[in-house]
Amino acid sequence: MTQLVIRRPDDWHLHLRDGEMLRAVAPESARHFGRAIIMPNLVPPVVTGAEAAAYRERILAALPEGAAFTPLMTLYLTEDTDPDDLARAHADGLITAVKLYPAGATTNSASGVRDFDKVRPVLERMAEIGCPLCVHGEVTDQAIDIFDREAVFIDRVLDPIRTTTPGLRVVMEHITTKQGADYARSGGPDLGATITTHHLVINRNHILVGGIKPHYYCLPVAKREEHRLALRAAATSGDPTFFLGTDSAPHTDPLKENACGCAGCFTATNTMSILAEVFEQENALDRLEAFASLNGPAFYKLPANDATITLTRGAPVAYPDKIDTGDGPVTVFDPMMPLHWRVT
Ligand code: NCD
Ligand code: ZN
Repeated sequence: MTQLVIRRPDDWHLHLRDGEMLRAVAPESARHFGRAIIMPNLVPPVVTGAEAAAYRERILAALPEGAAFTPLMTLYLTEDTDPDDLARAHADGLITAVKLYPAGATTNSASGVRDFDKVRPVLERMAEIGCPLCVHGEVTDQAIDIFDREAVFIDRVLDPIRTTTPGLRVVMEHITTKQGADYARSGGPDLGATITTHHLVINRNHILVGGIKPHYYCLPVAKREEHRLALRAAATSGDPTFFLGTDSAPHTDPLKENACGCAGCFTATNTMSILAEVFEQENALDRLEAFASLNGPAFYKLPANDATITLTRGAPVAYPDKIDTGDGPVTVFDPMMPLHWRVT
């Protein structure tokens, strides 16, 4: 196969940041993607409907003229989230989902949830109105090894939340483990899971062998090879549970190449080429459309995009090592393999 036409893909987990960074990275996603779920972990976080509306305007202003890209906004769940404000924003079509960060789990998560009982009324309201909850699934307990934090979160937090809040629609964001894939697969139609581009490519050796590689460090951190293989199997299976959420998370090089480097891989620029390469390696090019363009909208009860993109196989694709932003350079994720599929 040398050409593949698929519906225009969507990104169901994206960090666009704000200000100079937003202006630099928004066009990278708008080039290939139709819609994206926009993460609310700004400083300060996007907590109210009014803040989501204002952020949406800033994103639209940062897009190149004529871009066919729709930001789907989220609210950052805190222990003080007002269920009425949330329900109003959802009814007005201002927000598509709500994001749960356990406090301290990742970049800009300090305002997240410590006591899950405190957000129970909000979650019940969300179940009632059909607003999905996007979950960063890692416990923050210092006693739990970082490589086990996703699996422990499923048992200690996620499963209890789902049992006590029937009808709540949940997306397990950026799953990184076989346990995550297995739990998502068995969760029925109210449970979905996003998988990032980079977790299909790297395992923890890529971060740690031969010197520390900060540009491969993200959260949840990449796990053992068996987990990467489980994610590849899930993504390429066609199972509607699984869909693309790149978690493209730009940080400038000085913040990544640092004694305490920030977590996040920036994949917006080359994601579709990487995915096509991965799906080709798995003999699953015919399922790329399901993963990138169909399963996500189906979970979110939205129509798939009408427009299409064409991927063409040929000589290795050139893409920049870094993109320039007003805040400094941002390194583009290096998949360590030639990419033969270009979006035309
Ligand atoms: C994200 C970020 O930088 O905002 N970082 C990351 O490693 N993925 C936060 C997140 O999604 O956990
Ligand atoms: Zn993220």
